[in-house]
Order: sequence, then structure tokens, then C-alpha cells
Amino acid sequence: MPSTTSKNVLLVHAHPEPTSATRHLVQVAIHTMEAQGHTVTQSDLYGIGWKAVFDQDDFLIRANPERLAFIDESGHAYATGSQTPDVEREQAKLAAADAVILLFPLWWFGMPAIMKGWIDRVWAFGLAYGYQGAGNTYRYGEGGLAGKRAMLAVTVGGPAIDYGPRGINGPLEQLLFPITHGSLFFPGMQVLPTFAVYDAVRIDAGRMALIESDWQTRLQDLFDSAPIAFRTQNGGDYPDRHVLADDVVPGVFGLDAHIKA
Ligand SMILES: Cc1cc2nc3c(=O)[nH]c(=O)nc-3n(C[C@H](O)[C@H](O)[C@H](O)COP(=O)(O)O)c2cc1C
Repeated sequence: MPSTTSKNVLLVHAHPEPTSATRHLVQVAIHTMEAQGHTVTQSDLYGIGWKAVFDQDDFLIRANPERLAFIDESGHAYATGSQTPDVEREQAKLAAADAVILLFPLWWFGMPAIMKGWIDRVWAFGLAYGYQGAGNTYRYGEGGLAGKRAMLAVTVGGPAIDYGPRGINGPLEQLLFPITHGSLFFPGMQVLPTFAVYDAVRIDAGRMALIESDWQTRLQDLFDSAPIAFRTQNGGDYPDRHVLADDVVPGVFGLDAHIKA
């Protein structure tokens, strides 16, 4: 049964071409979420001319004019209200969002630079990391973005078989782990399984109708479906907050160990 409470959904998308598969997913998401009674806000990164590069221009009043230490300057700008207006606008949208959906084409097994730059710049120290001035005390399941849901919607040029469990590219969800786990779960968001459209360079009308239907179903379940079962830092699996306890999935290493079976 889909959630009936009205929520705020932020769509962050990175494709300049209105007829692209990515932008098609954006349009379907707008219609589907609005039809559910939700409020949709967009960050059309190409459309707003988002500055992708995190650099000295991000810090209007430097804590240390002599040496550019990004973490220190990010924390200072966030704490003192001296971030750039574009970053403040995006953080305000983020704060108002109950769910954030990142929609992008897979470029070199990751997100386009403009979207990486959105994360780099908007995920300020004090908000997405270094939460409450407590170092890494709150991360992986807790932090400044806790209580929000997140999902990736990715168009992929290659076929699904290349991204299967033994596919030559590696499983898509593992390739995207730095985003789902590292960028979204780290500051506390609950991350849903990725919605992927494979063979996205060639989509005829018949297949597009099926994709739309699958996407609508995923969107209708946005606030109800189970997130990826990433292990929380403070839930007991990492007694020293760094390494999994010996008795947690012994013999399992790498990324899989951080997801409950
Ligand atoms: C710079 C660039 C890098 C790409 N890297 C990948 C990749 O790593 N894996 C893949 O399957 N397809 C890759 N592709 C193909 C895109 O994923 C594909 O063109 C896109 O998903 C099509 O959807 P769109 O209509 O939304 O652009 C790449 C395309 C470009 C332009």
C-alpha cells in the first residue's frame, strides 16, 4: 500500500538534452510523484549552470587565507553562513526534502562531473560529515541527512548482462557503492536499490512503455519499500567504529560485508 502522506521530493538531474533517456525518467518522476500528491522540486544541474568544480571561489570569507584546506574552509563557511548562494539554495532544497532522487547517465561507471560537483560542494562539513562537531561519531546511518530517503535512477549504455553478478563490468550496485554507501548513507540517508535502465542508447517505444511502468512502480513505493540494508556504524557491527567485528559475516570481505544479507 503506497504512502498517502504528502511529501517533498527533490529530483537532482544531470543531462542537458531534453529528449535523453535520463530526462525522460525525470518527466515520469515529476508526473508520478505529483499524481501521488507529493511536492516535487528540481535541481536541473545543466539548466542552472551548476558550477561543478569545488575550488577557492566556494569560500567567500576565508578562515585561513594562506592555505586552502577544504574541510576547514567548508566547516567555517557552513558555520558562519558564508557559503555561496548557490550552495545555500541547494542545501535549503535538501533540508526540505523527504526524499532525494539523483538521475543521471552512467559516465565512466559513475556520475557526470557536474553531479559529483553538486555532492562535493553541497555536502558541507558540519552537515554531511563532521556532523555536530563530533568527527566521525555520526556517520553511516546517522548524521545531518538522517530521516531522508534517497535513490539513484541511472541510464546505462551497456546491456544488463555486462552488469550481472559475473558480468565483465562488475555488478552495477557495487560500481555505485561509493555513491549509495559513501555519499548518501554516510550522512544518514536511507538508500533504496538503484533503478537502472540498460541499453539506454537504443530504446524503442515499446520498451520505453515498459520502463515507464517499472519506474512508476518504484516511485509509488518510494516511501514504503525497504532500503538497502547497509550496516550502521553505531548499530554494534563495528565495535571500534572502523572495522567489522570478527563474528559478523566471518570470511566475507569487501563491499558485500557492509550489507546485511
Ligand atoms: C562520457 C561517457 C561515458 C560513458 N560511460 C559509460 C559507462 O561507463 N558504462 C556504460 O554502460 N555506458 C557508458 N556511456 C553510455 C551512456 O551511459 C549512455 O549514453 C546513456 O546512458 C544514454 O542515456 P541518455 O539518453 O540519458 O544519455 C557513456 C557515455 C558517455 C558520453
